[in-house]
Amino acid sequence: MIKCLKGNILFSETPEKLTVKANSYLVIEDGLVEGIYDNLPEKYKNCEVTDYGDKLIIPGFMDVHIHAPQWLNKGVGYSVELLPWLEKYTFPLESKFKDEDFAKKYYEAFVDELVHSGTTRACIFASRHYEATKLLINIMQKSGIGGYVGKVNMDRNSSPELQETYEDSVNETIMLAEEFSDCNKNNDLVKLILTPRFVPSTTSELMEKLGEIAEKYNLPVQSHLDENLDEVAWVKELHPDIPSFAEVYEHFGLMPKDRTIMAHCIHNNDREIEILKKHNVLIAHCPISNFNLASGIAPIRRYMNEGMDIGLGSDISGGHTMYMPDSCVAAVSASKMYHVAHNEYAPLSFSEAFYLMTKGGGKFFGKVGSFEAGYECDALVIDDTNIPKIDNMTLEERLEKYIYTGSRDNIVKIYCRGNEVK
Ligand code: GUN
Ligand code: FE
Repeated sequence: MIKCLKGNILFSETPEKLTVKANSYLVIEDGLVEGIYDNLPEKYKNCEVTDYGDKLIIPGFMDVHIHAPQWLNKGVGYSVELLPWLEKYTFPLESKFKDEDFAKKYYEAFVDELVHSGTTRACIFASRHYEATKLLINIMQKSGIGGYVGKVNMDRNSSPELQETYEDSVNETIMLAEEFSDCNKNNDLVKLILTPRFVPSTTSELMEKLGEIAEKYNLPVQSHLDENLDEVAWVKELHPDIPSFAEVYEHFGLMPKDRTIMAHCIHNNDREIEILKKHNVLIAHCPISNFNLASGIAPIRRYMNEGMDIGLGSDISGGHTMYMPDSCVAAVSASKMYHVAHNEYAPLSFSEAFYLMTKGGGKFFGKVGSFEAGYECDALVIDDTNIPKIDNMTLEERLEKYIYTGSRDNIVKIYCRGNEVK
């Protein structure tokens, strides 16, 4: 099946510079980008062309770190830091996902907002509840967008209502791995990911078992790392024999190479950075959450210089907005504040932040997040006519202006893997 979208096409091949194809044809074959042309080649003369005129066509947004059951909490609770915030706000809300009706109502609302925000792939933490996690997977499967969903594992240091036992955690995780293993093998849009909440929430025994499950079922892993100084100190107390936080995950086999995401990575030491590089871990940079919870600023320029993989995460509800352009803008702002505060590491450019939001994070889902030939075609059509502009703005400037001052209402069409979602 061949389709073609016509308009002003912008995407990232490298972080440094946006690729811009004015008034061009994006040819999609079986969901993949076949090529971009100034004039439609003869062989495609009969294919269906959707002409978007002067609109912008850009890749779908990639959110590599978000918590679905925290959706109702976005925008509250930011007068405390991570550990009291988890206890006071997060655990009580997540414990409500034991109730399947409650879970269905709010997971539908969550996925609806995700889709309408232009996010075409996301790495999602569910709660620790098995039934509710299956519901979320089903709702995602119906949505038309893709990504990974994981049941959270947490068998220590939680509230009595939310904490699970080691046995339940293992059994339910294995049940999900069995039930959804075909989704991962067949490259379905929605797949399963192992999700130990973070080291303080999971006993050594459970981490060890999850490491075995990751290997046996070839599952990816997502968790949190070096987000907050009190958290880092707590991990040291819990595991005095392991030299660093990152090495706890590594020790228990929870950093499978090329298929691990670690959110935040703010307070990593040099040794941990080498470990992340060794396992080719994707860093989920969540600047809005890091502002709200006063966690710190991740040294993203350093990670880029070191050639590490980085994507952006909204981290709802540490972050208060799931509209990814807000995180893109915040990534630029955070890098500027880092630069001013530390007098090192150049700030990120708009182009670099846009790259992280699209091709950078997209890497975790395969060839996703760009319009180079062979990439899965996740695309957004942006109508920016209601955004006041001076004459003769370049297409790059129009894109930057949309990202900074536009909203989800400017997204008039959404495609995921070549299929229309909205
Ligand atoms: N660390 C452990 N759990 C969480 C969570 O839900 N959100 C954030 N931001 N950090 C965490
Ligand atoms: Fe998080």
